[in-house]
Amino acid sequence: MLSRKFEYLRISVTDRCNYRCSYCMPSEVFNNNYSYIAQNKILSYEEIIHLCSILKTIGLRKLRITGGEPLLRKNIDKLVYKLKTESGIDNVSMTTNGSLLTDSKLKQLKSSGLDSITLSLDTLDPKKTTKINGTKKHFDLDMVLTGIEKYFTTVKTNTVVIKDINDNEVLDIVNKISTLRSEIRFIEYMDVGESNDWNFSKIIPSQELYELINSKYELSAIKTDKSSTSKKWALKNTSSSVGFISSITEPFCNDCNRARLSVDGKMYTCLFATEGHDIKKIIRKNQSDQAILDYFYNLWSKRSDRYSEVRFMQKKDSPKVEMSYIGG
Ligand code: GTP
Ligand code: 5AD
Ligand code: SF4
Ligand code: SF4
Repeated sequence: MLSRKFEYLRISVTDRCNYRCSYCMPSEVFNNNYSYIAQNKILSYEEIIHLCSILKTIGLRKLRITGGEPLLRKNIDKLVYKLKTESGIDNVSMTTNGSLLTDSKLKQLKSSGLDSITLSLDTLDPKKTTKINGTKKHFDLDMVLTGIEKYFTTVKTNTVVIKDINDNEVLDIVNKISTLRSEIRFIEYMDVGESNDWNFSKIIPSQELYELINSKYELSAIKTDKSSTSKKWALKNTSSSVGFISSITEPFCNDCNRARLSVDGKMYTCLFATEGHDIKKIIRKNQSDQAILDYFYNLWSKRSDRYSEVRFMQKKDSPKVEMSYIGG
């Protein structure tokens, strides 16, 4: 018996990104000397599609394509199309920084069958974008937001809130994004990987943000799936909701239904893992579908991850993997 239900896979299709967010790929670490995964080690689209078709037979119904920046990978729309049509996955979504989205790219992604797009958006201020996201390239945010709404109906945003960096923008973000049909999410800064300079004092607890937003808007609770990462609230008189992802102050490991597939084909059962399971090795040995399934089934049924619940009690043994490699 599987100990937890499996239905959701997050795939990092590239460990590269054109941004250098301080909390994810700080430029001091991810510089010209950084070794990214070599081309021949990266899972091909055929391998991803094959694996997803197999996992569909044991319940996989939801996929998130992430990275790094997934739009840096060539012909990503073709991967989406095949995941929907060949692997038969019900829901395929993507998390992106939005910098490479144009109207025609959005149209192409929609035609490929992509179900939704989550936009990482930490600030509305271009000067701060340079500071937080480590990029000088600025795109037309309004075009991207209205484009996502036009093709995908709802705009979903992720904001990682960091004390004294962008916490003063929370209401501005809500004001702006709630003019659209949207799901606005605020994420507590997490200690993923080993490269960022995370410490507890940089967290703004979601409860504080709830109180702040509730003082301006009337919030009413929306029921969410048990396995959802966020707690959601409707914003009165808008077509929007606000959600809080509180991995630090309110861990949600109990109903964690997700696995992660790294760029080089290792399966991880926790975002904070130190070791992955090399499923690519099995795939590349041309083993049968049943052998691949058994391998996955075995590692999933043994999982006991609950990092967020024990974060402050744990002794560190080996380094945690980076978010861009394992998938955000
Ligand atoms: P949906 O299930 O489609 O709503 O997506 P999601 O909220 O899982 O995906 P999204 O990529 O929008 O995730 C938002 C953020 O939540 C991620 O970037 C992470 O910061 C955090 N997150 C996602 N999954 C996990 C998880 O399993 N554990 C922890 N601790 N944080 C997670
Ligand atoms: N803490 C919280 N969220 C993070 N992300 C990346 N690094 C972190 C972190 N340290 C989130 C980004 C993006 C997604 C890919 O991962 O907000 O939306
Ligand atoms: Fe790139 Fe997203 Fe990581 Fe920022 S959070 S560096 S945009 S992968
Ligand atoms: Fe799942 Fe690990 Fe996140 Fe807990 S910390 S919710 S077990 S990925």
